[in-house]
Amino acid sequence: MQKNTGRYNITVLEGDGIGPEIVAEAVKALYAISENSETKFDFNFKDFGGAAIDSQGEPYPEDTKRACESADAILLGAIGGDKWDGVDPSIRPEKGLLNMRKHIGTYCNLRPIKTFKSTSSLSPLKESIIGDGIDFTIVRELTGGIYFGEKKTIDSPDSLYAYDMEIYHKHEISRILKTATEIARKRDNTITIVDKANVLESSKLWRKISKEVIPEDITVDYMYVDNASMQIIRKPSQFTTMVTSNMFGDILSDEASVITGSIGMLPSASLGENSKGIYEPIHGSAPDIAGQNIANPVGTILSAAMMLKYSFNMDKESTIIETAVENVLDRGIMTIDLSPENYVSTSEFGDMVSKEIYSIYKNS
Ligand code: IPM
Ligand code: MN
Repeated sequence: MQKNTGRYNITVLEGDGIGPEIVAEAVKALYAISENSETKFDFNFKDFGGAAIDSQGEPYPEDTKRACESADAILLGAIGGDKWDGVDPSIRPEKGLLNMRKHIGTYCNLRPIKTFKSTSSLSPLKESIIGDGIDFTIVRELTGGIYFGEKKTIDSPDSLYAYDMEIYHKHEISRILKTATEIARKRDNTITIVDKANVLESSKLWRKISKEVIPEDITVDYMYVDNASMQIIRKPSQFTTMVTSNMFGDILSDEASVITGSIGMLPSASLGENSKGIYEPIHGSAPDIAGQNIANPVGTILSAAMMLKYSFNMDKESTIIETAVENVLDRGIMTIDLSPENYVSTSEFGDMVSKEIYSIYKNS
């Protein structure tokens, strides 16, 4: 097998709730890769989210920022929890995440929605709908739109109101559509643009710009978001590359995640102009099961696999992690969310994946 000889600096942000538990298993997988290759990883752990509010009074403190700036890639668990619901909105854990995405410039969020053979029976969708499996990618714009537009609550003597602005600039739309085009080129040259162009000006702009930047040999389907949310459960196999705004992508990716049987399974990569990316599962911090060693680490382990592929150009090693996860699941080894009667713990699952990585190398 071809050896990769890099040395990479990974800033690790465990975050809150189940964050530390799931991140530990992804680190194990990366360690197993480094033990079997010439590539070395330096892990630099920093406080982030609620944990950073507790230790330093803000969710994205200065030294975490510096560590993210100097990193080759960022591995993130999850953030937030009831504990910080009462804090000032400007320093909520979520604000730290949004600030980091903006600061690192990761405008493109890739969320692959993929069923595994061994868990597809857990999908709430009928077998006839799943067919041979679902495999599409949601390309979510991540640093613009309503998340970052002007927002305000006005409490005046005669009225109380609030607003959040959905703003998209041409360059923001162009670059995300270009990324979607690259992704589509690796699949079937088809892009579904999800919007609400029957109501929103910003959506109309997306459509206009799509006609300018997406080459003619790419087939573009336009779909309203309300219809898309229905089609995702009615006939998910019709999608390969879906591109959409920040908020629509947030909502649709949670919806799509349940197709795979558990929201715990899905990874994501947030990418910008250079190779630095933020890699995190799409699920939240699940404070209700934190500290019990029962969370599903698959989404985070697969996020580490995405890191190898997109930030370090280690496609082979990335596939090894994916195959290891798949092999372990195929043996019926699952966490409680997937197999409530007969399950392994978070750390046992991670150990199995790591062991499997060693044996894949041994047999290659
Ligand atoms: C996600 C999360 C975040 C988002 C929250 C925590 C701000 O739901 O990554 O999908 O809405 O982007
Ligand atoms: Mn979300």
